[in-house]
Amino acid sequence: GAPVKADISKLEPGQMVVVEWRGKPVYVVRRTEEQVAGLKQLDQYMKDPASAGSEQPEYVDSATRAIRPEYLVLVGLCTHLGCAPKHYPEVGVPDLGGKAWLGGFFCPCHGSRFDLAGRVYQGSPASQNLVIPPYSYEGDNVIVIG
Ligand code: FES
Repeated sequence: GAPVKADISKLEPGQMVVVEWRGKPVYVVRRTEEQVAGLKQLDQYMKDPASAGSEQPEYVDSATRAIRPEYLVLVGLCTHLGCAPKHYPEVGVPDLGGKAWLGGFFCPCHGSRFDLAGRVYQGSPASQNLVIPPYSYEGDNVIVIG
């Protein structure tokens, strides 16, 4: 399939845009500085905190799972059975009884939870982090996926 482009010039902190790439939804999320800084403290709650067994390009930073920390790019398909996880940018929403919900993604099908780097929480049926597709930047405002 051909690469697709996402224009991020109008994306506000906390917002997400979805583009389709090879028939799959790709989520592009703009994270706040606080959200990026909060990732480290979640390592202890993650199944695969360093993404050792999860799919991502080798050129993304292992802590933020991104090229530029502000922008998360991931395939919006749950690694359990492929439903579309829902984006919850707010701290404490939804209240899932977890101690460490700082925003992220929740899969409605069987309740897998992922943080704002797409890393799966312990206790979720999914065992791999959400997939980071190959991507690059074209200038400051365009992300090319594929
Ligand atoms: Fe997402 Fe099962 S498909 S938890």
